[in-house]
Amino acid sequence: MRESNRIACEVLDLIEKQVKPGVTTIELDTLAEDHIRLCGAIPAFKGYRQGNSTPYPGSICASVNNEVVHGIPGERVLQEGDILSVDVGINKDGFFGDSARTYPVGKIDAETERLLKITREALFVGIAEARSGNYVHDISASIQEHVERAGYNVVRELVGHGIGRSLHEEPAVPNYGKRGTGMKLIDGLVLAIEPMVNIGTFRVKVAKDGWTILTADGRLSAHYEHSVIVRNGEAEILSKVA
Ligand code: MF3
Ligand code: CO
Repeated sequence: MRESNRIACEVLDLIEKQVKPGVTTIELDTLAEDHIRLCGAIPAFKGYRQGNSTPYPGSICASVNNEVVHGIPGERVLQEGDILSVDVGINKDGFFGDSARTYPVGKIDAETERLLKITREALFVGIAEARSGNYVHDISASIQEHVERAGYNVVRELVGHGIGRSLHEEPAVPNYGKRGTGMKLIDGLVLAIEPMVNIGTFRVKVAKDGWTILTADGRLSAHYEHSVIVRNGEAEILSKVA
């Protein structure tokens, strides 16, 4: 899982260098898939099904502006001032990695910058709670408090998750909740913690393509995700380059 998550981080680092006005999201998807295959790994999202959905076509999710998550890579051209959330899942030898970041495209305005900052901070506030002896919803509550104190809202309908030999495992890790509830954290547990934060309403809807999740009010949304292991009593981020 260290390896698969390192690859996830490498992909996000590579993409970070290429995100600029004029680039299409399918170009970023190709870049990601090439790197993943070069590492002897499999893009975990490609062909993924949820319920009876069509198989997910991309190696990454590329979600622009009011798109929360699960945006399908395509011919959309990134524009100055956009924000782009990229999520990538990796299967390396049967072990999964999962990580996401939101990038500014060129120069973005101050409020949008603040959305990214608060969402990133919320992820790290949540990670700090991922210690053995704590409860899953300690992570959830800390994320919710950080976001709502800033005047933003956490998406309710999508959640973080356990990860290991499958992309999605128990327990669910919501970005809202009550401290002291949910599963008790133990050493060795690996969680994908992933706040999705909306400037406006927390409500979302599904686009006509059947995959892309949009904010209900059309306002901006950001997403950051790390896979972390609870070890020696505290959280260690796996989705990083050593
Ligand atoms: N990255 C999402 C998660 O963290 C899963 C995306 S599945 C896909 O849970 F099929 F949409 F890619
Ligand atoms: Co995830």
